Amino acid sequence: MKDPVAPGKAQDSFSGFPVVLCSMSGPKDNIITLAMCHIFSFEPPLVAIGIGPKRHSYGLLRASDDFAINIPTKGLLKAVEICGSKSGRKVDKFDAAGLTREKAEKILSPLIAECPVNIECIKVNEVEVGDHALFIGEVVAARKDTQYDSKDALLYWGEYRVIGDLVR
Ligand SMILES: Cc1cc2nc3c(=O)[nH]c(=O)nc-3n(C[C@H](O)[C@H](O)[C@H](O)COP(=O)(O)O)c2cc1C
Repeated sequence: MKDPVAPGKAQDSFSGFPVVLCSMSGPKDNIITLAMCHIFSFEPPLVAIGIGPKRHSYGLLRASDDFAINIPTKGLLKAVEICGSKSGRKVDKFDAAGLTREKAEKILSPLIAECPVNIECIKVNEVEVGDHALFIGEVVAARKDTQYDSKDALLYWGEYRVIGDLVR
């Protein structure tokens, strides 16, 4: 037996989405916490992030040629919450969250040193979809800490989790 679910509530049933910290350059660089992040092409390697137009990051990303996707681990939860609640209009989130800028190899946007994975993207497209905009980036460089274990990466959908049992 299945209960009907209102169209606007159907998305609540998803289990969780990867949490990333997107960093970007601008008159002042910024970081935004995102759960809307997914891969959409292997060759070329494309990722898309979803950003609401009211976010300060939206204007920065529209003006920017590139952005970085940094994968935080559960130990960075406090920084994730700061970058996901404060606005770059008012605060420097590198300072507020105690994060360190690291120079990227191929893009102008700064990387986040404390994140074990840094993915450098050149913006290749922008698409307005409903109440968010998709910024699509081609991955042009990436680095990963040799100790990185994706079991420590965060998932979010109303609550924070890490991945669970291996099924196959
Ligand atoms: C776990 C988490 C996930 C989030 N995911 C998104 C997202 O995918 N897209 C988005 O626009 N905002 C998302 N937000 C909200 C923004 O991170 C938040 O509004 C932020 O303060 C905007 O910063 P800005 O004004 O500096 O751009 C998320 C927040 C949290 C805590």
